[in-house]
Amino acid sequence: MSVALTGATGFIGRRLLARLVKNGVQVRALTRRMPAEPEGPHIRWISGSLDDTAALERLVEGTDTVIHCAGAVRGANHATFHRINVEGSGRLFEVAQRQQCARLLLMSSLAARHPELSWYAASKRQAEQRVASSARPAVTVFRPTAVYGPGDRELHPLFEMLMRGWLPTAGPQEARLSFLHVDDLVAAVMAWLCHTPAGALVDGGPFELHDGYPGGYTWPRIAAIGAAVRGGPVRRLPIPAGILHGMALVNLMLARGLHRSPMLTPGKFRELRHHDWTCHNGPLTRATGWVPQITLEQALGDRRQWAAD
Ligand SMILES: NC(=O)c1ccc[n+]([C@@H]2O[C@H](COP(=O)([O-])OP(=O)(O)OC[C@H]3O[C@@H](n4cnc5c(N)ncnc54)[C@H](OP(=O)(O)O)[C@@H]3O)[C@@H](O)[C@H]2O)c1
Repeated sequence: MSVALTGATGFIGRRLLARLVKNGVQVRALTRRMPAEPEGPHIRWISGSLDDTAALERLVEGTDTVIHCAGAVRGANHATFHRINVEGSGRLFEVAQRQQCARLLLMSSLAARHPELSWYAASKRQAEQRVASSARPAVTVFRPTAVYGPGDRELHPLFEMLMRGWLPTAGPQEARLSFLHVDDLVAAVMAWLCHTPAGALVDGGPFELHDGYPGGYTWPRIAAIGAAVRGGPVRRLPIPAGILHGMALVNLMLARGLHRSPMLTPGKFRELRHHDWTCHNGPLTRATGWVPQITLEQALGDRRQWAAD
């Protein structure tokens, strides 16, 4: 089996690349920079970006499956998210169509369920629409919730604080959050690969993915899990909405001034304070047999392997 993979230098893609190679899949991987993983019998690096149609043609050449895991997760304006997530996905999809690829997996996000919240969420929803309803390649859309695990830089600091006995909370106490370990996400992609040998799932999704914790985590529940794992108290540190919003505005202005890509923006503030990020694995489990294996408790207990690499 041969796969064209984007985003293989990122948090999720790097973990996925390792698993594909371990399973003997031939991978052609797009990269904008010198990759950490050397080229080998199973990896061929293709230099270029999602803006570069010729690079995408080289990437997809000779493969039957495209896994599109590249994306902008931070940015200082709508245009950045639109260029990378919407136009980049559309460009890759058109190349896959031209080259008669059998199937394409789009790594969207649960955020796409609420495009009104942020530039990121809107761009993920629009990317889904851009690649929707095609016979060839048949498209499957994954909408994972917040992903954590080895190599993660976003949730890692929060969970580190939790294990030291402090939990900054960014939204209403009754808000429902969800998480997914990166290895469970990778397992879901592998299940998709194995269960759709002749094309995509009959239902191409979008499929939501989380760790299976029923009803979602409240902030107090996360604190209780942290306390149980560390064997000591966890104090919650509620960040008032006004302060968090102010921080997001300042961060955005600074990032624009310094030409950086910020994570905390007013859009991310709205995502963080959204009251319901519960999701449902049922449709994907029925379609592929995938069931998440890693609970937050287990992962927190084994967090030494999380250190960002
Ligand atoms: N992390 C999460 O919690 C989460 C949750 C749901 C969905 N997702 C989705 O999963 C995907 C991967 O996320 P991640 O957390 O692994 O993000 P990440 O660590 O920031 O990795 C992003 C990847 O996309 C590549 N990329 C970005 N812009 C590109 C462009 N213009 N051309 C080519 N490649 C480009 C990056 O390449 P460089 O290394 O060159 O920058 C990197 O390989 C994204 O689509 C994201 O929306 C993530």
